[in-house]
Amino acid sequence: MTMPFISINDAIAKGEGDVEIRGWVHRERGSNVIKFVVLRDSTNLMQCVIEKSVVGDKKYSEIDKIQIEASMELRGELKAEPRAPNGFELHVKDFKIIGTSDKFPVKAGQEREFLDDNRHLWLRSRRMTAILKIRSTVFGALHEYFRGEGFYEYQSPIFQGMQAEGGSTLFSCNYFGKPIYLAQTWQLYAEPAIFALEKIYTIAPSFRAEKSKTSRHLTEYWHAEMEVAWANFKDIQDHGEGAIKHAVKRVLERNREELKILERDAKILENVATKPFLRMTYDDVLKLLAQKCKLKIEWGKDLRTVEEDELSKLHDNFVIVTHYPKIVKAFYMKESPENPEVVHGCDFIAPESYGEIIGGSERESDIEKIKQRLTEQGEDPAKYEFYLDTRRYGSVPHGGFGMGVERLVSWICKLDNIKDAIPFPRTMLRYTP
Ligand code: 4AD
Ligand code: MG
Repeated sequence: MTMPFISINDAIAKGEGDVEIRGWVHRERGSNVIKFVVLRDSTNLMQCVIEKSVVGDKKYSEIDKIQIEASMELRGELKAEPRAPNGFELHVKDFKIIGTSDKFPVKAGQEREFLDDNRHLWLRSRRMTAILKIRSTVFGALHEYFRGEGFYEYQSPIFQGMQAEGGSTLFSCNYFGKPIYLAQTWQLYAEPAIFALEKIYTIAPSFRAEKSKTSRHLTEYWHAEMEVAWANFKDIQDHGEGAIKHAVKRVLERNREELKILERDAKILENVATKPFLRMTYDDVLKLLAQKCKLKIEWGKDLRTVEEDELSKLHDNFVIVTHYPKIVKAFYMKESPENPEVVHGCDFIAPESYGEIIGGSERESDIEKIKQRLTEQGEDPAKYEFYLDTRRYGSVPHGGFGMGVERLVSWICKLDNIKDAIPFPRTMLRYTP
């Protein structure tokens, strides 16, 4: 092997002549004189033809024992072949087996539990590879969006002293004999920083001790969050819409091939990337669901999965639901100046029954109201003293949101389960491998 290796996609782009490629055996079949190896690298598949008459008896006996997922280097001449997976075929002149593989245990169509137990091997599948590529595009696009809008990247601690999103989903750990919690959100540590940086974002893990076994909940997920000074409620919604649209646009530009592998119809993605999101108050959602779906929801109850799903079925785009009842939302959300029973909080409900992807709000500026709501929720405001200082020294209107990145990836790829949107999922029942 003497030439520089090129990727399978670069070989296809070259289209002819001698090339050297390397990768893993995706499929193999053949006889005692000719062997067809479909090689996989991170970019594509390539059918490789190995003939005994070309490589000689000794070499051929090596390839005869080859099994799925063995790693190889191959040199040969590229020829057009309409029946091959990518339209080309490599006529092998020489090859080297780098790593053997014995009875690779995993293949498509096996039980979910088995594939989850063998996640480290299942990652190599065409399906998981396609999802991971889209996930990479989404992360890149979110960074790009926020940086393009003039945000600084900023990090909060993961070990935190108090809850922000409800005590029931807190993970506590033993911090040298004292209880401490894993971050549910960066928010309480982000708000103090807007006084320095004004516009900030992060993409970091968040943790929720979710006892629910749903297709939407992980215990460890990647949380894209932002916080902005001098922002009103509409600004927050606009940024949420902008960030989602940008991520979807990038996937459409870069991952057409992966969407095809996942059999994902791109039409709805195109719709979301180009058409304005619907914006609707909680009150209007209640009216709409009563009219169109005969669903009666008592005012003051949070929207449950069933109701979010019915709402999403009525539209082919995201719906931003605003002005939720104060009692169902977090203590930091701003009470509406027009109606003290509702808050300037919003949830972004994805199309196709994928549920809430973003939760955000304008932040309450009245320190007494924050203390009162903490007390009502059974919290000791004294634990939040550092946070309350944000309202004592030069407080400004501000707000932010958090996006579950796996929820977005799940919807973009139309996955059955959020577990496939992350390499090694963590749920109540799944924490290995
Ligand atoms: O709605 P949440 O709880 O909002 C917050 O944490 C705010 N502090 C965010 C902010 O304003 N900075 O969570 C935000 C998003 C949800 O909309 C959802 O997409 C995702 O985080 N999320 C989960 N994703 C996967 N698994 C879970 N268990 C999740 N819990 C929330
Ligand atoms: Mg929420």
